[in-house]
Amino acid sequence: MQSKSNEDQSQITVSTLRRMREARDKIACLTVYDASFAHLLEEAGVEVLLVGDSLGMVIQGEATTLPVTMDDMVYHTRAAARGSGRALLVADMPFMSYATPQRAMDNAARLLREGQARMVKLEGGRTQLETVRTLSDRGIPVCAHLGLQPQSVHKLGGYKVQGRGEAAAVAMLEDAKALQEAGADLLLLECVPSPLAAGITVAVDIPVIGIGAGPDCDGQVLVLYDLLGITHGPLPRFAQNFLAGAEDIPSAVRAYVEAVKAGTFPTRAHGYN
Ligand code: KIV
Repeated sequence: MQSKSNEDQSQITVSTLRRMREARDKIACLTVYDASFAHLLEEAGVEVLLVGDSLGMVIQGEATTLPVTMDDMVYHTRAAARGSGRALLVADMPFMSYATPQRAMDNAARLLREGQARMVKLEGGRTQLETVRTLSDRGIPVCAHLGLQPQSVHKLGGYKVQGRGEAAAVAMLEDAKALQEAGADLLLLECVPSPLAAGITVAVDIPVIGIGAGPDCDGQVLVLYDLLGITHGPLPRFAQNFLAGAEDIPSAVRAYVEAVKAGTFPTRAHGYN
């Protein structure tokens, strides 16, 4: 019996992303929280849809991502899955849902089974190696998230650039290699100095997606509401309102995809040193 996904040869998979990295074809990624936008983003050429736990802030109006629950993530992932098909749908594992490898397995299974995600993302470096190995060994694709880890905001003392200074940079590079070794298929770097992000991208074999990580990663992600300019308060330095000057929302998203592909977004000015 042939599965539905096998019939769709154009579906974006972890292999597609690896091929894109090898071909230096930049990967366009955006966050998404519902079916309508999932459809729109996919039509505009976005290859990776991330149901981020940023939904706690931009959808639910919370001050941090910490209150987001597994039920919230399953609900929004399932909605995004109904609106998409071709793009790789990645779901964030919320705060404490992967505190042990067993919990991570149970909760990742929910995101794949009930939410129809095709990859899960979790924050953390060396402390998450066993969890990443456990998920990967059981056939669950994992996106590791290094740099600024919003679920640790209270420990970090705020939303700050990470990896500054020799020791922190070396530790992040080692974490990235260890996560790859443990089975991670994708790496996301958030708010990392551009030279360090460039170095990590060269040092690992898996595709690296950046946000506030400069222009040299294999791909780029933005929070959708930043791209649309509807986030409260000033836009972070690494974001850009693509709706300003665009005719409509689909044109704005297409402009983002084209800019990522052309290497004109992000620029050096969007990054940190
Ligand atoms: O939750 C999220 O939206 C994220 C992005 C900031 C990458 O993790």
